[in-house]
Amino acid sequence: MQSLPQRSMGSDRRHRHGPYRFYAPIYDRVFSSRLKGSYKGMYSALDLEDGATVLEVGVGTGASLDFCPTGVRVEAIDFSEPMLEKARARLGKRVDAPEVSFTKMDAHRLEFPDGHFDHSMVSHALAVVAEPMCVLREMKRVTKPSGKIVIVNHYKRGGGVLISLFNPIRKRFGLGMHVDFESMISECGLEIELSKKIGRSHRTLFVCVYSNTNE
Ligand SMILES: C[S@@+](CC[C@H](N)C(=O)[O-])C[C@H]1O[C@@H](n2cnc3c(N)ncnc32)[C@H](O)[C@@H]1O
Repeated sequence: MQSLPQRSMGSDRRHRHGPYRFYAPIYDRVFSSRLKGSYKGMYSALDLEDGATVLEVGVGTGASLDFCPTGVRVEAIDFSEPMLEKARARLGKRVDAPEVSFTKMDAHRLEFPDGHFDHSMVSHALAVVAEPMCVLREMKRVTKPSGKIVIVNHYKRGGGVLISLFNPIRKRFGLGMHVDFESMISECGLEIELSKKIGRSHRTLFVCVYSNTNE
């Protein structure tokens, strides 16, 4: 197993985790209930076999795990303890649950060795983190080169110029910024194997693999 990468501890990256303390009690009622298609799409995009290891980044209240097959081992990380508390309680109520380990962790500095997971995934969190590109690179690093990285998020192709003007405000309230996912995926040395719309909204699911011409 390879060692963890060395990183500078004094990052001046500005996180916006505060809002999630307020969202945690209402998140499932207001948001998760509308995102079931995203969660289902994310887990069913991978043909997960018993014993497969998966990283879920920014798991939030863990509503996505309702769609995770039993027999799969999930490492679920999030930076917000109130969101993680909700996720632990939610999973605890299930009789037939997958094996999930919840950890408070910054997605910009994943504390796992290179190639540790069979696959990794992120639902509606990549546009919320301070540096989406850094997080996607980290997800790629900890995923086996044969694995897949699944991203599901609101995404409007080409509609970014106007929407991007609101990014600073959206960031302050912990809401998703406009991110050009397609460019970011290719800049990270990944290729889109599958891209599909979820429901009638602007939600899009991307299944990414290592590109042949890897950086
Ligand atoms: C919009 S919620 C999405 C939650 C869940 N994945 C879902 O789809 O319902 C975004 C989540 O990302 C988490 N988050 C934000 N920045 C993070 C970071 N740097 N590291 C880990 N989690 C982070 C927040 O705490 C929050 O739970």
